[in-house]
Amino acid sequence: MEAAIATAVQNGQLKPSETSEMTETSNSKLEMLYMTEPTKIILDTDPGGDDIFAFLWLLSLVKQKLVDLVAITATEGNVTARKTFANSCQVLQLAGFSNIPVGRAVSLPSDSGEGAEHIHGEDGMGNLSQTLPPSDQDFDTAQPADDLLIERLNADPGNITLIAIGPLTNLAAAEAKQPGILQKAKEIVVMGGAFQCRGNITPVAEFNIWFNPKAAQTVFDSRDDIVVLPLDVTRQLVFTPTMAGAVTQQNPSSQLAQFVVKLCQFMVGTTLKYRETAGVPGFLVHDAVTIGYLFYSETLMLRRAKVQVEALGDCTRGQTLIDERHKAKPAANAWVALQVDVPNFFTNFAEDLKYLIHGTV
Ligand code: BDR
Ligand code: CA
Repeated sequence: MEAAIATAVQNGQLKPSETSEMTETSNSKLEMLYMTEPTKIILDTDPGGDDIFAFLWLLSLVKQKLVDLVAITATEGNVTARKTFANSCQVLQLAGFSNIPVGRAVSLPSDSGEGAEHIHGEDGMGNLSQTLPPSDQDFDTAQPADDLLIERLNADPGNITLIAIGPLTNLAAAEAKQPGILQKAKEIVVMGGAFQCRGNITPVAEFNIWFNPKAAQTVFDSRDDIVVLPLDVTRQLVFTPTMAGAVTQQNPSSQLAQFVVKLCQFMVGTTLKYRETAGVPGFLVHDAVTIGYLFYSETLMLRRAKVQVEALGDCTRGQTLIDERHKAKPAANAWVALQVDVPNFFTNFAEDLKYLIHGTV
């Protein structure tokens, strides 16, 4: 023990002054050495059934004190700005975190895409919003998402990770308002794109990028280390009602457990209707992959690449490309995931959801 304390002082992990009371408290001091600071995160989201599963996973990590959730910025995409704001507030409230600020989506450009109510329900959460208590956060007086992003990134440069699981309108608006602001994020993790597989909103495009391709281009141009988690990996992440049952079985009648099961059922219905899982009764938890990447990085393989976005094409709007020809490539701007370890991903996902719902695993 003494040796460990001496090594800690030598390595600069403990100040010599901190060793004075260590005879009685050595164990807790040493435990402190191995505790990591919670990761500071802003979640940009358009809930959205799969957004909500990503959101709940993240809130489990908040509950485990591994994440400091600085803010949510709601973005327009799956459903309208008002609905993504209301859904974000209701999810926070349901999980007991209504103190976290929520920004409202910035306005869309005139050429943006159309929503995905046919997949996520009219309200964006499987028409379950009326089963949850209304939130007391007010859309009309909420801070606009771009201002909230700018404020928080300026206040803590280099320390906040941005997770973007909707169209990239808010991030691009922040960059337009204060050029260079996205460089102040510690890391930017995006669910979006389709590289070696078909698209989901057009034959070649993935929804988040297609919805506002110019915004996506702005984000990819903002720095050279964007983490991109595309359909190539998320198409493999089929969450089933059996899995939802296992996650909730310890206390199936709690409001959160019921919400998880019913949202899963709804999403499975629309997923089967739109043939997203080749007939397998489950749904794709696309957006949850971002949490897998950040906290269970062993479940994903990434490669460096230059990602380009087709922002103008009629048939190819929103297509994302990487160049795999046998020739030297111009500078890369991203890390792209093309492989995922599905069983390990779902083991971690399920255990963390259990912790959120039941307080134990
Ligand atoms: C993405 O599109 C949205 O419908 C989902 O929420 C996810 O972010 C998948 O293409
Ligand atoms: Ca989403």
